Amino acid sequence: MNAQNPVFIPGPTNIPDRLRRAMDVQTSDHRAPDFVELFAPVLKGVKKIFKTSDGEVVIFPASGTGGWEAAITNTLSPGDKVLIARYGMFSHRWIDLCQRHNLEVEIIECEWGTGAPADIFAQRLREDKNADIKAVLVTHNETATGVRSDIAAVRKAMDASNHRALFFVDCVSSLASMDFRMDEWGVDLAVAGSQKGFMLTTGMAIVGFSQRAIAATKSADSCRTFFDFHDMFNANANGGFPYTPPLQLIHGLSASLDMLFEEGLEQVFARHFRIAQGVRHAVAAWNMKLCAKTPDLYSDSVSAIYVPQGFNSDELTNHAYDAYGVSFGVGLGEMAGKAFRIGHLGSLSDVMALSGIATIEMAMRDLNYPIELGQGVSAAQEYYRKTTGTALSKKAA
Ligand SMILES: Cc1ncc(COP(=O)(O)O)c(C=O)c1O
Repeated sequence: MNAQNPVFIPGPTNIPDRLRRAMDVQTSDHRAPDFVELFAPVLKGVKKIFKTSDGEVVIFPASGTGGWEAAITNTLSPGDKVLIARYGMFSHRWIDLCQRHNLEVEIIECEWGTGAPADIFAQRLREDKNADIKAVLVTHNETATGVRSDIAAVRKAMDASNHRALFFVDCVSSLASMDFRMDEWGVDLAVAGSQKGFMLTTGMAIVGFSQRAIAATKSADSCRTFFDFHDMFNANANGGFPYTPPLQLIHGLSASLDMLFEEGLEQVFARHFRIAQGVRHAVAAWNMKLCAKTPDLYSDSVSAIYVPQGFNSDELTNHAYDAYGVSFGVGLGEMAGKAFRIGHLGSLSDVMALSGIATIEMAMRDLNYPIELGQGVSAAQEYYRKTTGTALSKKAA
């Protein structure tokens, strides 16, 4: 493994030097009065990333999975019913977490490679005359299949059904890489983590609560201590933390927000789109297929790519790692052995993306895939050179 090579897994992502330096700070007392000077602007900044002014953000020392647990335990009680669609490994794991918390989980089974089925949600909610469904759960970006779901469409479906269920969205692999609008889309609970679009190490579950979600905490009687919203919120309001905070990560998040705002959030999204498009051009040039069924579902943070019949994607990712020291995402769940993933989110430029495309191309050639060296690279190069200097590429990381 060469430590200089970028990773092409869809998180944790490459950490820019600036953020590594920002986290390289000596311990200071989190009970000292100046902690609030560091932390309060961070919470404010994260709210801007979620695009919420009505909601509140809390940060738990955890990973995205902890964020799921915080969402469920703060707002629901055992036995409550939730509605969720399964279309990949991460929606599957959220289902599993809900089941382990003794929620009644109604699952809409969807083909992997598709996204959240707004029409089926609408139908189920219309049929739910007694309002038994307390929450609708959606994974915005299914990292296992490279599928981005239309959150606005699900909101619309919920509104059209006149249903008052809470709306929970996992934006772990979309926030700060693709557009996310907590207030506009009426999201009540948004779950993210530090190690993807924020370009940091793993260690923070970053969770947005709407006022409705906060109100729901009053009656939710799921057991919670570490993830208690009010313990965290009240401590934060007084400039502190209910327990020992991950100080170095908070310094990192402060610098990460600076980087994102300096580039401009919309520009960050445009950069992700452009890099992703280059990867998609390469995939087409290889005559290979994305798992995402249709272009409206394409994710700008990760592409999951089927290998041709007779090939095993695990062999390919292992070979790329052993021979060239570069990590790509393996196929997860139903995709195991059938698809590999190129993570293209966080601190990444077009030139870095080209190195990933070139590397996987070498690995494929070594394993006698039916491709030519340069096929995918040149397709991506053509796209990048045509779009350089456009609004899509300005100020790229
Ligand atoms: C969409 C999505 N949700 C949840 C998770 C779980 O997050 P973590 O691994 O940080 O616990 C991941 C992790 O990759 C993810 O991609």
